[in-house]
Amino acid sequence: MVRLPESSQRIQAIRGMFSRLAPRYDLGNRVLSLGLDSSWRRSAARLAQPGRPGLVLDVATGTADLALAVARLGSRVVALDFCEEMLQVGMGKGRKAGPGVDVAFLLGDALSLPFPLDTFDAVTIGFGMRNIPDLARYLAEVRRVLKPGGRLVTLELYPPAHGSRAHRWYLKHVVPGVGGLLSGQGVAYEYLHSSIRQFSTPEELRDSLRDAGFGAIEIVPLHLRAAMVHLAIK
Ligand SMILES: C[S@@+](CC[C@H](N)C(=O)[O-])C[C@H]1O[C@@H](n2cnc3c(N)ncnc32)[C@H](O)[C@@H]1O
Repeated sequence: MVRLPESSQRIQAIRGMFSRLAPRYDLGNRVLSLGLDSSWRRSAARLAQPGRPGLVLDVATGTADLALAVARLGSRVVALDFCEEMLQVGMGKGRKAGPGVDVAFLLGDALSLPFPLDTFDAVTIGFGMRNIPDLARYLAEVRRVLKPGGRLVTLELYPPAHGSRAHRWYLKHVVPGVGGLLSGQGVAYEYLHSSIRQFSTPEELRDSLRDAGFGAIEIVPLHLRAAMVHLAIK
């Protein structure tokens, strides 16, 4: 199991890992999710924008797939990440997305969001929360920048709750092996496996959202509960 150092060293280690992974990150996602990750992001995007298009912040945007999925539904999106190399890949995709897909890219930290109170109609985060060391501080920041009634949409991977030895085996052996082969960054995919195991259960995350002051929390399972969306309202 990969254990990263705590605190600021851990943050540096995570940023460094994503900067090395950036050129092959999308390929790894497509192959290892068996092509399902794009549909998971589209489901999350629809939950972020149930009515009229608005202004949406996509935190830990990486290569911007979730940001682009939200923008394709008509919202204007600010895509924020602290890893420049991941953002550069995302910006390339943003330029090719064509007119009407409105995404602005910003280098920044999820723990210190550079926006005033009550700015966004929705905040999204896809497969990013596992990497953020201080969940309570992150949720307080998100709550601050959301408008009253704004939606927080969190898409995450979870280990199999019961049984499914095949799923467990896939996460433990296939993900690091194949991910390493595709990217040359086996350590990053071992980290992916351990970070999924170490992250909150869906119920613990629901409780953290409630403790942070969010309401009307819904858990939406996607594809055999391998991924889930938490929807929460400020
Ligand atoms: C697994 S990737 C997810 C990327 C993207 N959201 C997706 O759907 O594929 C995690 C991203 O979180 C970013 N990240 C981790 N901690 C962060 C922080 N404290 N502030 C901003 N971005 C962060 C990393 O740089 C990386 O791009």
